[in-house]
Amino acid sequence: MKVLHVVGARPNFMKVAPVLSALRAHEHVAQMLVHTGQHYDANMSDVFFEQLGIPAPDVNLAVGSGSHTWQTAEIMMRLEPVLQEAKPDIVLVYGDVNSTAAAALVCAKLGVRLGHVEAGLRSFDRTMPEEINRLVTDQLAEVLFTPSEDGDSNLQREGIPAEKIFRVGNVMIDSLVKLLPVARAQRRDGLPERYALVTLHRPANVDDGAMLKSILQSLLEVSRDLGVVFPAHPRTRQRIAESGFELGGVAKQLQLLDPLPYVDFLALQARSQVVITDSGGIQEETTFLGVPCLTLRENTERPITVSMGTNVLVGRDPEKLRAELALVLAGKQKRGMIPPLWDGHAGERIAGIVAGEAVGSVLRATAGTTS
Ligand code: UD1
Repeated sequence: MKVLHVVGARPNFMKVAPVLSALRAHEHVAQMLVHTGQHYDANMSDVFFEQLGIPAPDVNLAVGSGSHTWQTAEIMMRLEPVLQEAKPDIVLVYGDVNSTAAAALVCAKLGVRLGHVEAGLRSFDRTMPEEINRLVTDQLAEVLFTPSEDGDSNLQREGIPAEKIFRVGNVMIDSLVKLLPVARAQRRDGLPERYALVTLHRPANVDDGAMLKSILQSLLEVSRDLGVVFPAHPRTRQRIAESGFELGGVAKQLQLLDPLPYVDFLALQARSQVVITDSGGIQEETTFLGVPCLTLRENTERPITVSMGTNVLVGRDPEKLRAELALVLAGKQKRGMIPPLWDGHAGERIAGIVAGEAVGSVLRATAGTTS
């Protein structure tokens, strides 16, 4: 059996690693890894492969950056001949980035079986490019691996038959569980004693100049009470430079860093007082770590991090951010629990289903109805 994985962007890498590793235990499975090249900077890609123990990709489509349409179309065109030649039994795609949806479309056009890891998440906000990618990918997938119960119900509401849905837990947490001891052992000098860890990259936050300035202003205010450590995504860095906003004056209290490798970022998260972010995955990682997370978004596709975890949606309201930070500083932050099946073994469950009869029968049944 041949399983071909397609990944492309930073948040894919911590999801593919546990599945690749768990599938190695199944001797009849041959694996192939395709990197679309959506993320290409060494500190957005190569360093993640090294730290997560992912083998070098068999194929790199080297697509690079462009508009969403261009990037999606270019990935499709470059991936099609690869799939035609490799003839995989199943393609696995991860998360909700453009590479995920592009690969899903190519599989649908070629009639190649598709499995979606991290299926069923919904923000119900179609202005987010990721929401479109999730909707498209889930409609096209024949095997859908969900991290939590809300994923199952979203899919069933959209008409996806229950027998295609497998609740396996959170595969990204597998990577966290594996590397947390390494992260905790890591030394990092020059950090403030107590700090807020910040990440920001959503177009809605960084591409709107007024919004970006308002967030940066709030961060400067935060830095009066707490250090601020801010590893900035390349697009965010560029937007800050374009905005002309001066972060330099408080350099000691506010550290603007380059994007960090996985283990280094995990170490910073685990030691932080609070995380301020608009990322999806970080909402989950902070819930697992028990670190308060203030999310600069109006909605989340990961509601379990709010209902069970440490996540609070502060939206775009500086007042709400201030109020929640005051609670953290007073030691009255939200406490949470780790959701079920976020246990470090999701990759093994996925591998068992992919390699085993469960998928065989689901896929045979699907093929039977369409032929
Ligand atoms: C993508 C994902 C987003 C994910 C994020 C994690 C989509 C729609 N978005 O957003 O869901 O949370 O990755 O980082 O797929 N750039 C570099 N170096 C790189 C890659 C990008 O400098 O290695 C810059 C380029 O200027 C590029 C911009 O970042 O135009 C945006 O990159 P892109 O891959 O289009 O989207 P992300 O914002 O990274």
